[in-house]
Amino acid sequence: MGIRKVGVVGCGLMGSGIVQTAASCGFEVKVREVNDQFLAKGLSKIEGVLAGAVKKEKMTAAEKDAVMARISGTTRVEDLADCDLVIEAVNENVELKQDLWRRLDALCPATTLFASNTSSIPIRVQAQVTARPDRFVGLHFFNPVPVMKLVEVIRAETTSEATYQAAMEFSKALGKTPVTCIDTAGFIVNRLLVPYLFDAVRALEAGIATAEDIDTGMKLGCGHPMGPLALLDFVGLDTALAISHILFDAFGFPHYKAPKLLEKLVSEGKLGRKSGEGIYKY
Ligand code: CAA
Repeated sequence: MGIRKVGVVGCGLMGSGIVQTAASCGFEVKVREVNDQFLAKGLSKIEGVLAGAVKKEKMTAAEKDAVMARISGTTRVEDLADCDLVIEAVNENVELKQDLWRRLDALCPATTLFASNTSSIPIRVQAQVTARPDRFVGLHFFNPVPVMKLVEVIRAETTSEATYQAAMEFSKALGKTPVTCIDTAGFIVNRLLVPYLFDAVRALEAGIATAEDIDTGMKLGCGHPMGPLALLDFVGLDTALAISHILFDAFGFPHYKAPKLLEKLVSEGKLGRKSGEGIYKY
């Protein structure tokens, strides 16, 4: 596969999880954030999760130090120029991602593989601004990245067989189970998950039960680790809304249309766990 040094752009919720997972699996990782404050926040989150693992005796303090030593942080995109693979985990904004890839394309050697962790922006739309669409692939991780076993490997029409195989091998080297999907809106999981989450909000709007009972119903009735409304808060209401717009535009099915309550909560800044309130208060 030839991947040893991994660059990650963005050290937020997903980026920090990708960094932690890759460093824990022996990869040297460089992570870039836009400023020192965001970088410090992301790195201290990783340190905190690892410290928790040491406390639970799931790893030794020396192992934790070794993982942290494999991670280096930077605010300069230029510092990722010597990476074998660069994964972006920045905001779901087309212009932002395209601008980043243009810069990285000019900086990195032609052999560097590019991967996007997007959940909704087509891989082809990102790959087309680079001179390496054959070396461009989607690697869609799930939150919390260190825990969730799945990676969706998105094989765009331009992704070469070698790039696809490297992405599959890399995912397995992270201890994940990769599944392959074509470059289509929502890939596999969000295409199926979003209507389910929205139906739970519609059930709440219709007054069929309390939020707690809807969640308990799905947890205990179907063996899900979280109920749909708690999961919506966990994913982020704004993120779910953004994904639903992409799905609705792509397919036009009414079940991808966001429920009124979701739009209202987002417009009030109630975005879920990250803002302290969504369907539930935290
Ligand atoms: N980073 C690292 N480890 C974490 C973590 C994090 N952010 N959050 C939890 N963990 C670990 C804990 O340390 C704990 O580890 P041990 O078992 O080794 O002690 C383990 O996960 C379980 O955590 P908790 O005991 O604290 O809590 P829990 O049992 O309730 O599990 C959960 C929490 C893993 C989040 C679980 O509720 C779950 O699996 N929920 C569903 C999550 C899900 O569906 N994610 C996908 C969202 S969709 C998406 O991400 C795609 C998209 O594009 C929107």
